Amino acid sequence: MTNTLSYASTPRLSSRVEQLHGSVIDSSTSLLASQTHDIVRFAMGAPNAELIPEADFARLFAAPSQGRFDYGATEGEPELIREVAAQLHRQGLAADPERILITTGGMQGLDIAFKLLIDAGDTVVVEAPTYTNGIGTAQSYQARILEAPIDQDGMVVEELPRLVAEHGQTPKAIYTVPNFQNPSGTTMSLERRRELLRLAEEWDAVIIDDDPYGTLRFEGEPVPSFAELSPGNPRIIQVRTFSKVLAPGLRIGWLELDPALRQLAINAKQSMDTCTGVPMQHIVADYLAEGALDAHIARLRGVYRERKYALINALADTFGEEVTTTNPEGGFFLWLTLGGRYAQVDAEELFPIALRHGVAYIPGPAFTASGTFHNALRLCFATSSPDRIREGVSRLHRALEEAIA
Ligand SMILES: Cc1ncc(COP(=O)(O)O)c(C=O)c1O
Repeated sequence: MTNTLSYASTPRLSSRVEQLHGSVIDSSTSLLASQTHDIVRFAMGAPNAELIPEADFARLFAAPSQGRFDYGATEGEPELIREVAAQLHRQGLAADPERILITTGGMQGLDIAFKLLIDAGDTVVVEAPTYTNGIGTAQSYQARILEAPIDQDGMVVEELPRLVAEHGQTPKAIYTVPNFQNPSGTTMSLERRRELLRLAEEWDAVIIDDDPYGTLRFEGEPVPSFAELSPGNPRIIQVRTFSKVLAPGLRIGWLELDPALRQLAINAKQSMDTCTGVPMQHIVADYLAEGALDAHIARLRGVYRERKYALINALADTFGEEVTTTNPEGGFFLWLTLGGRYAQVDAEELFPIALRHGVAYIPGPAFTASGTFHNALRLCFATSSPDRIREGVSRLHRALEEAIA
């Protein structure tokens, strides 16, 4: 007699499964964790441990915890919603608590936004390249992806009418990372933001404005957000997160959206995770209440500015004209395009060689649905010190030389 039952084969799955692509970026976390040799990490878009206020978090986590381990309200802990609104006010932004929904990281904000908007076969415009998990989430709702090119001023919005006409279907959603874009580091110009708002109106589409990096501007002039250009516009869903300015492991973000949509978003979240982890919400709320965030962000800006220049200068000194890069005014990333002697190198094939040489990055094809940009690499300058960045660039050079040998 045995208690185990036999089974025939894989269970019948949903058609959606074919559109679950997984994330090259997220998978690199476990790939890199399994390496035992020293690696300079240009891969994940994560702040380094020394830039995370861990001691403050530990102190706040140990604070009296009455009720903090219970279920919380789906829309978020009232203290955190209040503090997020106050923080936005300090940044000069209008923020209505009735429009805020706390999410489990920016990723859940994206998931909810696409869930509310997209039926199978609907079109979503995305930047090419764009954030891998943005595409992945749209595809998980069986969206058709329409790729729009970018240049140094972000999405080339002028091309959209032609691209949409050729595609034959107007978009339901336009997904953009307008500031210090992931992966390119570029920022959408004011004129293009205005034009995108106009097109969204014309096409009856929603702009999903995903902006984890906007507060991390270390040079140049800020560009007004879509919501500042069109206050209260229900066609704008703002996806925000504390992952890049505080810590990604907290998994705390928020959505800012029309109150009617917010109620639907709450319904959607209730069938996902009921509420975002309550202790983590309180750590962030208490941290904000202590008024420490502005000074912390000011420090990050200085550090990231120095790191960007360390990377750009090391790349220029090492590679000269053989590669070109973007020159971001904030955020975490720059985009490197291989040229000259390296023009034929495939960034995916280079990856294992680079890893062996002790440097990691994300290959270009991870950032499009069509798998293009084989000659491009996303480099994150946020994670490593200037010395480590220079070491990483030397290692990348050795890897590239081996690849063309
Ligand atoms: C553009 C963009 N959106 C969303 C996210 C996800 O943020 P979170 O880690 O808070 O889920 C990231 C993280 O890399 C990102 O770069």
